[in-house]
Amino acid sequence: MKRQRYYDLFSKYYDQFIRLHSKDRTNSTRRRLARKTGAGSGDRVLDLCTGTGAVAIALSDRVGPDGMVVGIDFSAGMLNKAKEKAIGQGIKNIEWIQADVTNMPFKDNSFSAVTSSYAFYELKGTSRNRVLQEVTRTTRPEGRFCMMEHDIPENPLIRILFYIRMYVTGLKGVRQFLEEELSLFQQFFKNVEKESIHGGRSKIICGRV
Ligand SMILES: C[S@@+](CC[C@H](N)C(=O)[O-])C[C@H]1O[C@@H](n2cnc3c(N)ncnc32)[C@H](O)[C@@H]1O
Repeated sequence: MKRQRYYDLFSKYYDQFIRLHSKDRTNSTRRRLARKTGAGSGDRVLDLCTGTGAVAIALSDRVGPDGMVVGIDFSAGMLNKAKEKAIGQGIKNIEWIQADVTNMPFKDNSFSAVTSSYAFYELKGTSRNRVLQEVTRTTRPEGRFCMMEHDIPENPLIRILFYIRMYVTGLKGVRQFLEEELSLFQQFFKNVEKESIHGGRSKIICGRV
């Protein structure tokens, strides 16, 4: 698949790119996302499209040695980077799984919470609904799903540039998704809430199964 190959190649530079782009040297936004799930000691949690594992690593700290984090991604390159980082930090409570998030190899009610960070735009058309269905199937009743994503810039010029960037990266359906995301989330989750972060440049949306 084109996108999978793109991430296999990009994996070599992904973390450097994120450091330059976000200036977040301490992984604080991903730790914030992990905190919003409410996951704690002993929980089993899932990070969708885990990439190089930044959120999974933040979650591993929260669930501790009695808990377990599963990071799922379809790019072997991104997962290899994630594994290297976890081994380097002596982390033993993360399992890395190479699979497509539209068809997850997990039993019903397997997780206390699920996260997704800067990945939902990657999913095309009906696959977003398919993933949300999979999240509700694999998360225990009352468990939380928390998603972090870029938000629509308020400045009109920057907004146009944002949409152009989305278009050229092949993410055509993103505009419609952005306009409908809260109502879409409300179809799948209760108590849906949105928090703006980075001065409105990004957001975290959480809901309860
Ligand atoms: C922009 S990166 C985000 C990585 C990470 N969550 C973070 O916060 O840095 C998007 C990730 O989504 C993964 N991805 C995209 N579509 C996927 C799919 N259908 N199934 C599994 N992984 C997918 C890509 O391989 C890539 O690692």
